[in-house]
Amino acid sequence: MKILITGAGGQLGTALRNELQKHHLLPLGHEKLDVTNFEAVRSAVDSLGPDLIINCAAYNNVDGAESDQESAFRLNSLAPRNLAVASFANDIPLLHVSTDYVFDGLSDRPYHEFDRPNPISVYAKSKLAGEIAVASLNPRHYLVRTSWLYHFAPASARNFPKTMLGLAGKDQVNVVSDQFGSPTFVPHLAQAIGDLIETNAFGLYHLAGSGFTSWYELTRTLFRLFDIKTFVNPVSTAEFPRPAARPGFSALTTLQDPGIVLPHWETGLSEFAAGLK
Ligand SMILES: NC(=O)c1ccc[n+]([C@@H]2O[C@H](COP(=O)([O-])OP(=O)(O)OC[C@H]3O[C@@H](n4cnc5c(N)ncnc54)[C@H](OP(=O)(O)O)[C@@H]3O)[C@@H](O)[C@H]2O)c1
Repeated sequence: MKILITGAGGQLGTALRNELQKHHLLPLGHEKLDVTNFEAVRSAVDSLGPDLIINCAAYNNVDGAESDQESAFRLNSLAPRNLAVASFANDIPLLHVSTDYVFDGLSDRPYHEFDRPNPISVYAKSKLAGEIAVASLNPRHYLVRTSWLYHFAPASARNFPKTMLGLAGKDQVNVVSDQFGSPTFVPHLAQAIGDLIETNAFGLYHLAGSGFTSWYELTRTLFRLFDIKTFVNPVSTAEFPRPAARPGFSALTTLQDPGIVLPHWETGLSEFAAGLK
């Protein structure tokens, strides 16, 4: 299959370029294709003639989106709309990636695909608008919600575990203990996407690390893996105010058929540690 990957230089783009090597890949980083530019998107899709597009480009600055709504909506809503229009015109499917943050976090059990989103931040609203654009403009879509992504590649990747490792020289770090989610090792997500695109079973999928934990427990597990002695101090969301509201509980699970289940988040964290060491 000839697969056009947009935003190919990010965490997921990097993992997909590694995972999908049996396919003919057309990886385009930001510098080669600006997905917010409709004419550029249409011309790339028309001229390259892919069989599938996977969109990995996104605006992921959850706090920044509160003061820069335009950037968030251009990249997370308008760009998937551009890709949906261009893929539909070329009669090819589009795989687009969204987030657990479309939920409000008030559930007492992990969210499945048939739960109703209720975004509570600008970032989350922009991602939900992107989902709606894709679902309404190209019926041949895979919409993949995932969460709490981390990878050791590319070297420039910014994510929570890498941030925490950067603080390891300190005596103590304060980490929020009342937000729960499903940490996802990006190569596991890339494998799951590799399986999904073989199915032609279009629709909405939750693909995230199995199980769930808090940022606090995630940090403790990470520090144990690296034998880091820094004390991890649990704090509440109220004690650690941020510009954007975040769901208190956004763990994902799947009810979809085919049921594609990722390894447990602790397995992912161990593989991440092995990859960094
Ligand atoms: N990271 C998370 O924790 C998380 C959680 C849930 C869902 N997701 C979703 O998962 C997907 C993959 O995320 P990720 O962590 O791999 O993201 P990432 O590492 O931040 O990569 C995003 C990529 O998009 C590129 N990009 C930015 N603006 C662009 C534009 N106008 N045109 C083309 N490319 C552009 C960036 O390139 P430059 O850096 O060169 O601008 C970057 O390489 C996204 O849809 C994201 O919303 C992520």
